Amino acid sequence: MKVLRLKSVSFMLVFVLMVGQLFAQQKTNADSIRQKMQWFADAKLGIFIHWGIYAVADVSESWSFHNKQISWKDYMNQSKSFTAAKYDPADWASLIAASGARYSVITTKHHDGVALWDTKENHYSTVKNTPAKRDLLTPFYQELRKRNVKAGAYFSLIDWSHPDYPGFLKDSSRYKVNDDPARWERFKNFYQNQLNEVTTKFKPDLYWFDGDWEHSAEEWESQKVREGILKSNPSAIINGRLMGYGDYETPEQNVPVSRPRYDWWELCMTTNNNWGYRKTDTAWKTPYEIIALFADVVSTGGNLLLDIGPREDGSIPKEQRHILTELGAWNKKHEKAIFGTLGGIAPGHFYGPTTISKDSTSLFLFLQGQTSGTIMVKGLSNQIKDITVLGNGTKLKHKVVGKISWSPVPGLVYIDIPKGVQDKYITVLELKLDKPVSLYRGKGGFD
Ligand code: GLC
Repeated sequence: MKVLRLKSVSFMLVFVLMVGQLFAQQKTNADSIRQKMQWFADAKLGIFIHWGIYAVADVSESWSFHNKQISWKDYMNQSKSFTAAKYDPADWASLIAASGARYSVITTKHHDGVALWDTKENHYSTVKNTPAKRDLLTPFYQELRKRNVKAGAYFSLIDWSHPDYPGFLKDSSRYKVNDDPARWERFKNFYQNQLNEVTTKFKPDLYWFDGDWEHSAEEWESQKVREGILKSNPSAIINGRLMGYGDYETPEQNVPVSRPRYDWWELCMTTNNNWGYRKTDTAWKTPYEIIALFADVVSTGGNLLLDIGPREDGSIPKEQRHILTELGAWNKKHEKAIFGTLGGIAPGHFYGPTTISKDSTSLFLFLQGQTSGTIMVKGLSNQIKDITVLGNGTKLKHKVVGKISWSPVPGLVYIDIPKGVQDKYITVLELKLDKPVSLYRGKGGFD
Protein backbone atom coordinates (compact mmCIF):
# COMPACT_ATOMS: atom_id res chain seq x y z
CA MET A 1 0.00 0.00 0.00
CA LYS A 2 2.70 2.43 1.13
CA VAL A 3 4.94 1.51 -1.80
CA LEU A 4 2.08 2.12 -4.17
CA ARG A 5 1.41 5.55 -2.70
CA LEU A 6 5.09 6.44 -2.86
CA LYS A 7 5.17 5.33 -6.45
CA SER A 8 2.21 7.44 -7.44
CA VAL A 9 3.61 10.47 -5.57
CA SER A 10 6.91 10.19 -7.41
CA PHE A 11 5.05 9.66 -10.67
CA MET A 12 3.09 12.85 -10.00
CA LEU A 13 6.30 14.70 -9.20
CA VAL A 14 7.98 13.64 -12.42
CA PHE A 15 4.86 14.58 -14.34
CA VAL A 16 4.69 18.05 -12.76
CA LEU A 17 8.39 18.58 -13.47
CA MET A 18 7.97 17.53 -17.09
CA VAL A 19 5.00 19.83 -17.63
CA GLY A 20 6.95 22.65 -15.99
CA GLN A 21 9.89 22.03 -18.28
CA LEU A 22 7.63 22.00 -21.31
CA PHE A 23 6.12 25.35 -20.34
CA ALA A 24 9.56 26.84 -19.70
CA GLN A 25 10.74 25.61 -23.09
CA GLN A 26 7.67 27.05 -24.80
CA LYS A 27 8.23 30.37 -23.08
CA THR A 28 11.87 30.52 -24.21
CA ASN A 29 10.79 29.73 -27.77
CA ALA A 30 8.12 32.43 -27.67
CA ASP A 31 10.64 34.90 -26.21
CA SER A 32 13.20 34.23 -28.91
CA ILE A 33 10.57 34.56 -31.67
CA ARG A 34 9.46 37.84 -30.13
CA GLN A 35 13.06 39.01 -30.12
CA LYS A 36 13.74 38.13 -33.73
CA MET A 37 10.42 39.73 -34.80
CA GLN A 38 11.23 43.06 -33.19
CA TRP A 39 12.74 44.77 -36.22
CA PHE A 40 9.76 43.62 -38.28
CA ALA A 41 7.26 44.96 -35.74
CA ASP A 42 9.05 48.31 -35.75
CA ALA A 43 9.51 48.45 -39.54
CA LYS A 44 5.87 49.10 -40.57
CA LEU A 45 6.68 49.54 -44.25
CA GLY A 46 8.25 47.25 -46.82
CA ILE A 47 8.42 47.56 -50.60
CA PHE A 48 7.50 44.49 -52.63
CA ILE A 49 8.92 44.09 -56.14
CA HIS A 50 7.47 41.81 -58.80
CA TRP A 51 9.93 41.71 -61.66
CA GLY A 52 10.10 39.07 -64.35
CA ILE A 53 9.58 38.24 -68.00
CA TYR A 54 5.85 38.93 -67.53
CA ALA A 55 6.67 42.65 -67.68
CA VAL A 56 7.20 42.36 -71.45
CA ALA A 57 3.79 41.60 -72.96
CA ASP A 58 1.22 43.30 -70.73
CA VAL A 59 0.12 40.03 -69.11
CA SER A 60 -0.26 39.07 -65.48
CA GLU A 61 2.62 37.34 -63.70
CA SER A 62 2.48 33.56 -64.23
CA TRP A 63 -1.30 33.42 -63.83
CA SER A 64 -1.84 34.56 -67.44
CA PHE A 65 -0.59 31.24 -68.87
CA HIS A 66 -1.90 29.18 -65.95
CA ASN A 67 -5.37 30.61 -66.60
CA LYS A 68 -4.91 30.10 -70.34
CA GLN A 69 -5.13 33.76 -71.32
CA ILE A 70 -1.90 33.22 -73.24
CA SER A 71 -0.20 29.98 -74.22
CA TRP A 72 2.75 28.85 -72.13
CA LYS A 73 4.93 29.07 -75.24
CA ASP A 74 4.01 32.69 -75.93
CA TYR A 75 4.38 33.50 -72.28
CA MET A 76 7.89 32.06 -72.14
CA ASN A 77 8.72 33.83 -75.39
CA GLN A 78 8.70 37.04 -73.43
CA SER A 79 12.12 36.03 -72.12
CA LYS A 80 13.63 37.03 -75.45
CA SER A 81 12.68 40.65 -74.80
CA PHE A 82 13.51 40.88 -71.12
CA THR A 83 16.59 43.11 -71.27
CA ALA A 84 17.13 44.82 -67.90
CA ALA A 85 18.84 47.43 -70.11
CA LYS A 86 18.07 50.38 -67.83
CA TYR A 87 18.29 48.47 -64.56
CA ASP A 88 19.89 50.65 -61.89
CA PRO A 89 19.82 48.80 -58.56
CA ALA A 90 21.29 51.79 -56.70
CA ASP A 91 18.43 53.94 -57.96
CA TRP A 92 15.86 51.32 -56.92
CA ALA A 93 17.35 51.04 -53.45
CA SER A 94 17.50 54.83 -53.05
CA LEU A 95 13.87 55.17 -54.02
CA ILE A 96 12.91 52.43 -51.58
CA ALA A 97 14.93 53.94 -48.74
CA ALA A 98 13.43 57.36 -49.48
CA SER A 99 9.92 55.91 -49.18
CA GLY A 100 10.68 55.21 -45.54
CA ALA A 101 10.56 51.44 -46.02
CA ARG A 102 12.75 49.43 -43.67
CA TYR A 103 12.70 46.29 -45.82
CA SER A 104 12.14 45.20 -49.37
CA VAL A 105 11.06 41.86 -50.81
CA ILE A 106 11.83 40.95 -54.42
CA THR A 107 10.64 37.98 -56.48
CA THR A 108 13.64 35.66 -56.74
CA LYS A 109 11.35 33.40 -58.78
CA HIS A 110 7.61 33.53 -59.45
CA HIS A 111 5.25 30.64 -60.26
CA ASP A 112 6.56 30.70 -63.87
CA GLY A 113 9.83 29.24 -62.62
CA VAL A 114 12.16 31.86 -64.10
CA ALA A 115 14.91 32.54 -61.54
CA LEU A 116 16.39 36.04 -61.38
CA TRP A 117 19.76 34.66 -60.31
CA ASP A 118 22.31 32.26 -61.82
CA THR A 119 20.76 29.07 -60.51
CA LYS A 120 22.92 25.96 -60.76
CA GLU A 121 19.78 23.92 -61.37
CA ASN A 122 18.88 22.98 -64.90
CA HIS A 123 15.94 25.37 -65.22
CA TYR A 124 14.96 28.81 -66.52
CA SER A 125 16.76 31.95 -65.38
CA THR A 126 17.36 35.53 -66.47
CA VAL A 127 21.01 34.50 -66.91
CA LYS A 128 20.45 31.62 -69.32
CA ASN A 129 17.22 32.57 -71.04
CA THR A 130 17.06 36.35 -71.43
CA PRO A 131 19.21 39.04 -73.05
CA ALA A 132 19.67 40.48 -69.56
CA LYS A 133 22.12 37.57 -69.16
CA ARG A 134 22.84 38.16 -65.49
CA ASP A 135 22.03 37.64 -61.88
CA LEU A 136 19.80 40.62 -61.11
CA LEU A 137 19.47 40.04 -57.40
CA THR A 138 23.01 40.28 -56.00
CA PRO A 139 23.51 43.96 -56.89
CA PHE A 140 20.04 44.86 -55.62
CA TYR A 141 20.56 43.20 -52.24
CA GLN A 142 23.95 44.90 -51.97
CA GLU A 143 22.44 48.32 -52.59
CA LEU A 144 19.65 47.69 -50.09
CA ARG A 145 22.10 46.68 -47.40
CA LYS A 146 24.25 49.74 -48.03
CA ARG A 147 21.20 51.76 -47.07
CA ASN A 148 20.29 49.65 -44.06
CA VAL A 149 17.17 48.30 -45.71
CA LYS A 150 16.55 44.65 -44.83
CA ALA A 151 16.62 42.18 -47.71
CA GLY A 152 13.64 39.90 -48.35
CA ALA A 153 13.38 37.04 -50.84
CA TYR A 154 10.04 36.14 -52.37
CA PHE A 155 10.24 32.50 -53.42
CA SER A 156 7.45 30.65 -55.18
CA LEU A 157 7.08 27.06 -54.04
CA ILE A 158 4.92 26.44 -57.09
CA ASP A 159 6.87 26.07 -60.32
CA TRP A 160 4.41 25.56 -63.16
CA SER A 161 7.18 25.40 -65.77
CA HIS A 162 9.06 22.53 -64.18
CA PRO A 163 8.45 19.15 -65.86
CA ASP A 164 8.41 17.43 -62.45
CA TYR A 165 5.93 19.82 -60.87
CA PRO A 166 2.41 18.31 -60.73
CA GLY A 167 0.45 21.49 -61.50
CA PHE A 168 0.60 23.32 -64.82
CA LEU A 169 -2.47 24.80 -66.46
CA LYS A 170 -5.75 25.51 -64.75
CA ASP A 171 -7.98 22.43 -64.32
CA SER A 172 -5.28 19.97 -65.27
CA SER A 173 -2.12 18.51 -63.85
CA ARG A 174 0.89 16.56 -65.08
CA TYR A 175 0.43 13.88 -62.46
CA LYS A 176 -0.69 13.30 -58.86
CA VAL A 177 1.91 13.13 -56.10
CA ASN A 178 0.56 9.80 -54.85
CA ASP A 179 0.70 8.24 -58.29
CA ASP A 180 4.36 9.09 -58.82
CA PRO A 181 6.13 9.81 -55.53
CA ALA A 182 9.57 9.48 -57.15
CA ARG A 183 8.78 12.30 -59.55
CA TRP A 184 7.58 14.51 -56.71
CA GLU A 185 10.76 13.61 -54.83
CA ARG A 186 12.76 14.90 -57.80
CA PHE A 187 10.84 18.17 -57.76
CA LYS A 188 11.29 18.53 -54.02
CA ASN A 189 15.04 18.09 -54.35
CA PHE A 190 15.11 20.63 -57.13
CA TYR A 191 13.14 23.27 -55.25
CA GLN A 192 15.02 22.77 -52.03
CA ASN A 193 18.33 23.05 -53.90
CA GLN A 194 17.20 26.34 -55.39
CA LEU A 195 16.08 27.54 -52.00
CA ASN A 196 19.48 26.62 -50.58
CA GLU A 197 21.10 28.65 -53.33
CA VAL A 198 18.98 31.66 -52.33
CA THR A 199 19.97 31.13 -48.70
CA THR A 200 23.71 30.82 -49.27
CA LYS A 201 23.94 33.48 -51.94
CA PHE A 202 21.74 36.22 -50.48
CA LYS A 203 21.36 35.39 -46.78
CA PRO A 204 17.87 36.93 -46.75
CA ASP A 205 16.68 38.64 -43.59
CA LEU A 206 13.17 37.60 -44.56
CA TYR A 207 11.75 34.76 -46.67
CA TRP A 208 8.47 35.38 -48.45
CA PHE A 209 7.09 32.07 -49.65
CA ASP A 210 4.14 31.91 -52.00
CA GLY A 211 1.90 29.23 -53.46
CA ASP A 212 1.85 26.88 -50.49
CA TRP A 213 -1.84 26.21 -51.15
CA GLU A 214 -1.11 23.64 -53.86
CA HIS A 215 0.36 21.07 -51.42
CA SER A 216 0.31 20.07 -47.77
CA ALA A 217 3.00 20.85 -45.18
CA GLU A 218 4.09 17.21 -45.38
CA GLU A 219 4.41 17.32 -49.14
CA TRP A 220 6.41 20.54 -49.15
CA GLU A 221 8.38 19.35 -46.10
CA SER A 222 7.64 22.72 -44.53
CA GLN A 223 9.16 21.82 -41.20
CA LYS A 224 12.44 20.79 -42.80
CA VAL A 225 12.44 23.99 -44.86
CA ARG A 226 11.87 26.14 -41.78
CA GLU A 227 14.53 24.32 -39.76
CA GLY A 228 17.03 24.55 -42.62
CA ILE A 229 16.55 28.31 -42.91
CA LEU A 230 16.82 28.89 -39.18
CA LYS A 231 19.91 26.70 -38.95
CA SER A 232 21.72 28.94 -41.40
CA ASN A 233 20.30 32.13 -39.91
CA PRO A 234 18.43 31.84 -36.59
CA SER A 235 17.09 35.37 -36.90
CA ALA A 236 15.60 34.98 -40.38
CA ILE A 237 11.90 35.79 -40.54
CA ILE A 238 9.56 33.55 -42.53
CA ASN A 239 6.18 34.70 -43.85
CA GLY A 240 3.06 32.66 -43.25
CA ARG A 241 2.75 30.93 -46.60
CA LEU A 242 4.52 27.72 -45.64
CA MET A 243 1.50 25.72 -44.54
CA GLY A 244 1.69 26.62 -40.87
CA TYR A 245 5.46 27.02 -40.50
CA GLY A 246 5.79 30.78 -40.86
CA ASP A 247 6.11 33.62 -38.36
CA TYR A 248 3.44 36.04 -39.53
CA GLU A 249 0.21 36.35 -41.49
CA THR A 250 -0.08 37.85 -44.97
CA PRO A 251 -3.52 39.19 -45.90
CA GLU A 252 -3.49 40.23 -49.54
CA GLN A 253 -5.05 43.28 -51.22
CA ASN A 254 -7.84 43.51 -48.63
CA VAL A 255 -7.49 45.91 -45.71
CA PRO A 256 -8.73 44.25 -42.52
CA VAL A 257 -11.78 45.95 -41.06
CA SER A 258 -11.41 44.83 -37.46
CA ARG A 259 -8.05 44.53 -35.78
CA PRO A 260 -6.50 41.15 -36.62
CA ARG A 261 -5.61 39.09 -33.54
CA TYR A 262 -2.26 37.93 -34.88
CA ASP A 263 0.93 39.00 -33.14
CA TRP A 264 2.43 39.99 -36.49
CA TRP A 265 0.85 40.55 -39.85
CA GLU A 266 1.57 42.32 -43.08
CA LEU A 267 -0.84 43.48 -45.76
CA CYS A 268 0.58 43.13 -49.26
CA MET A 269 -0.96 45.52 -51.73
CA THR A 270 -0.39 46.69 -55.28
CA THR A 271 0.02 50.33 -56.37
CA ASN A 272 -2.43 49.73 -59.25
CA ASN A 273 -4.31 46.44 -59.84
CA ASN A 274 -1.39 44.20 -60.79
CA TRP A 275 1.70 42.86 -59.08
CA GLY A 276 3.89 43.05 -62.15
CA TYR A 277 4.20 45.84 -64.72
CA ARG A 278 1.30 46.10 -67.15
CA LYS A 279 1.18 48.89 -69.63
CA THR A 280 -2.62 48.99 -69.74
CA ASP A 281 -3.17 49.06 -65.99
CA THR A 282 -3.53 52.73 -65.16
CA ALA A 283 -5.66 52.25 -62.05
CA TRP A 284 -3.06 53.89 -59.84
CA LYS A 285 -3.93 54.43 -56.22
CA THR A 286 -3.36 58.01 -55.17
CA PRO A 287 -0.72 58.88 -52.54
CA TYR A 288 -3.60 59.89 -50.26
CA GLU A 289 -5.25 56.49 -50.61
CA ILE A 290 -1.97 54.71 -49.92
CA ILE A 291 -1.13 56.90 -46.92
CA ALA A 292 -4.64 56.54 -45.49
CA LEU A 293 -4.58 52.77 -45.72
CA PHE A 294 -1.02 52.67 -44.41
CA ALA A 295 -2.10 54.63 -41.32
CA ASP A 296 -5.02 52.25 -40.93
CA VAL A 297 -2.77 49.18 -41.14
CA VAL A 298 -0.25 50.54 -38.63
CA SER A 299 -3.07 51.58 -36.32
CA THR A 300 -4.36 48.02 -36.29
CA GLY A 301 -0.94 46.54 -35.53
CA GLY A 302 0.28 45.53 -38.99
CA ASN A 303 2.85 46.31 -41.66
CA LEU A 304 2.26 47.34 -45.25
CA LEU A 305 4.20 45.61 -48.03
CA LEU A 306 3.56 47.92 -50.94
CA ASP A 307 4.21 46.49 -54.37
CA ILE A 308 5.83 48.00 -57.44
CA GLY A 309 6.37 46.35 -60.82
CA PRO A 310 9.31 47.62 -62.88
CA ARG A 311 9.31 47.39 -66.70
CA GLU A 312 11.27 44.68 -68.50
CA ASP A 313 14.18 47.12 -68.93
CA GLY A 314 14.29 47.79 -65.19
CA SER A 315 12.87 51.30 -65.31
CA ILE A 316 10.28 52.15 -62.70
CA PRO A 317 7.12 53.87 -64.02
CA LYS A 318 6.78 57.48 -62.91
CA GLU A 319 3.43 56.84 -61.19
CA GLN A 320 5.09 54.30 -58.88
CA ARG A 321 7.95 56.68 -58.20
CA HIS A 322 5.45 59.40 -57.38
CA ILE A 323 3.63 57.23 -54.85
CA LEU A 324 6.87 56.18 -53.16
CA THR A 325 8.25 59.71 -53.07
CA GLU A 326 5.10 61.24 -51.64
CA LEU A 327 4.77 58.45 -49.09
CA GLY A 328 8.41 59.01 -48.15
CA ALA A 329 7.96 62.73 -47.57
CA TRP A 330 4.90 62.07 -45.42
CA ASN A 331 6.75 59.35 -43.47
CA LYS A 332 9.66 61.67 -42.82
CA LYS A 333 7.40 64.33 -41.42
CA HIS A 334 5.43 61.85 -39.29
CA GLU A 335 8.18 59.37 -38.48
CA LYS A 336 7.54 59.54 -34.75
CA ALA A 337 3.90 58.48 -35.14
CA ILE A 338 4.67 55.49 -37.36
CA PHE A 339 8.02 53.75 -36.99
CA GLY A 340 8.68 51.86 -33.78
CA THR A 341 5.19 52.58 -32.48
CA LEU A 342 2.53 50.23 -31.17
CA GLY A 343 -0.90 49.69 -32.72
CA GLY A 344 -3.41 52.22 -31.49
CA ILE A 345 -6.27 52.34 -29.02
CA ALA A 346 -9.51 50.41 -29.52
CA PRO A 347 -12.02 51.93 -31.94
CA GLY A 348 -14.70 54.04 -30.29
CA HIS A 349 -12.33 56.28 -28.36
CA PHE A 350 -11.47 58.22 -31.49
CA TYR A 351 -12.97 57.99 -34.97
CA GLY A 352 -9.79 57.53 -36.94
CA PRO A 353 -6.51 55.63 -36.87
CA THR A 354 -4.25 56.01 -33.83
CA THR A 355 -0.85 54.74 -32.70
CA ILE A 356 0.95 54.78 -29.35
CA SER A 357 4.62 55.43 -28.58
CA LYS A 358 6.49 52.43 -27.18
CA ASP A 359 6.43 53.85 -23.65
CA SER A 360 2.71 54.55 -24.16
CA THR A 361 2.95 58.16 -23.04
CA SER A 362 2.25 59.64 -26.48
CA LEU A 363 -0.99 59.03 -28.31
CA PHE A 364 -1.00 59.88 -32.02
CA LEU A 365 -4.26 60.75 -33.77
CA PHE A 366 -4.47 60.57 -37.57
CA LEU A 367 -6.88 63.03 -39.10
CA GLN A 368 -8.36 61.90 -42.39
CA GLY A 369 -8.58 64.24 -45.35
CA GLN A 370 -8.37 67.92 -44.51
CA THR A 371 -9.99 67.74 -41.08
CA SER A 372 -10.49 71.08 -39.38
CA GLY A 373 -12.95 72.10 -36.68
CA THR A 374 -13.48 70.15 -33.49
CA ILE A 375 -12.50 66.52 -32.94
CA MET A 376 -13.31 64.42 -29.90
CA VAL A 377 -11.57 61.73 -27.83
CA LYS A 378 -13.69 59.63 -25.50
CA GLY A 379 -12.77 57.61 -22.42
CA LEU A 380 -9.21 58.88 -22.02
CA SER A 381 -8.39 58.70 -18.31
CA ASN A 382 -5.06 60.52 -18.64
CA GLN A 383 -4.29 64.17 -18.27
CA ILE A 384 -3.10 65.66 -21.55
CA LYS A 385 0.09 67.66 -21.02
CA ASP A 386 0.52 68.97 -24.49
CA ILE A 387 -0.85 68.65 -28.06
CA THR A 388 1.31 69.24 -31.16
CA VAL A 389 0.60 69.07 -34.87
CA LEU A 390 3.41 66.77 -35.97
CA GLY A 391 5.90 68.12 -38.45
CA ASN A 392 4.31 71.56 -38.17
CA GLY A 393 4.91 72.35 -34.51
CA THR A 394 1.65 74.20 -33.84
CA LYS A 395 0.45 73.63 -30.27
CA LEU A 396 -3.26 73.02 -29.82
CA LYS A 397 -5.52 73.56 -26.84
CA HIS A 398 -8.08 71.12 -25.56
CA LYS A 399 -11.15 71.25 -23.41
CA VAL A 400 -12.53 68.51 -21.14
CA VAL A 401 -16.30 68.39 -21.19
CA GLY A 402 -18.68 66.64 -18.83
CA LYS A 403 -16.21 65.43 -16.20
CA ILE A 404 -18.07 64.75 -12.96
CA SER A 405 -15.82 65.21 -9.96
CA TRP A 406 -17.05 62.21 -7.99
CA SER A 407 -17.11 59.76 -10.92
CA PRO A 408 -14.16 57.79 -12.28
CA VAL A 409 -15.53 58.21 -15.81
CA PRO A 410 -13.31 60.63 -17.76
CA GLY A 411 -14.84 63.59 -19.56
CA LEU A 412 -14.87 64.06 -23.30
CA VAL A 413 -11.79 65.72 -24.77
CA TYR A 414 -12.47 68.28 -27.50
CA ILE A 415 -9.62 69.62 -29.61
CA ASP A 416 -9.98 72.49 -32.07
CA ILE A 417 -8.08 72.01 -35.30
CA PRO A 418 -7.58 75.39 -36.94
CA LYS A 419 -7.35 75.80 -40.70
CA GLY A 420 -3.82 76.06 -42.08
CA VAL A 421 -2.10 73.35 -40.03
CA GLN A 422 -3.23 70.47 -42.23
CA ASP A 423 -0.83 68.17 -43.99
CA LYS A 424 -1.27 67.70 -47.73
CA TYR A 425 -2.48 64.15 -47.03
CA ILE A 426 -3.06 63.17 -43.41
CA THR A 427 -2.45 65.39 -40.40
CA VAL A 428 -1.16 63.78 -37.21
CA LEU A 429 -1.52 65.10 -33.66
CA GLU A 430 0.71 64.03 -30.82
CA LEU A 431 -1.03 64.02 -27.43
CA LYS A 432 1.58 63.94 -24.66
CA LEU A 433 0.09 62.22 -21.65
CA ASP A 434 0.93 62.43 -17.95
CA LYS A 435 1.34 58.64 -17.71
CA PRO A 436 1.07 55.60 -19.98
CA VAL A 437 -2.24 55.73 -21.79
CA SER A 438 -5.14 54.59 -19.67
CA LEU A 439 -8.61 54.09 -21.10
CA TYR A 440 -12.03 53.95 -19.56
CA ARG A 441 -13.94 51.06 -21.10
CA GLY A 442 -17.12 51.06 -18.99
CA LYS A 443 -20.71 51.82 -19.84
CA GLY A 444 -20.85 55.28 -18.25
CA GLY A 445 -22.68 55.85 -15.01
CA PHE A 446 -20.96 55.00 -11.77
CA ASP A 447 -18.34 52.44 -12.80
C1 GLC B 1 -0.63 35.76 -54.97
C2 GLC B 1 -0.26 35.42 -56.38
C3 GLC B 1 0.90 36.07 -56.88
C4 GLC B 1 1.46 37.26 -56.15
C5 GLC B 1 1.25 37.17 -54.67
C6 GLC B 1 1.66 38.39 -53.90
O1 GLC B 1 -0.61 34.76 -54.08
O2 GLC B 1 -0.15 34.05 -56.60
O3 GLC B 1 0.83 36.26 -58.23
O4 GLC B 1 2.79 37.23 -56.37
O5 GLC B 1 -0.03 36.87 -54.40
O6 GLC B 1 1.15 38.41 -52.64
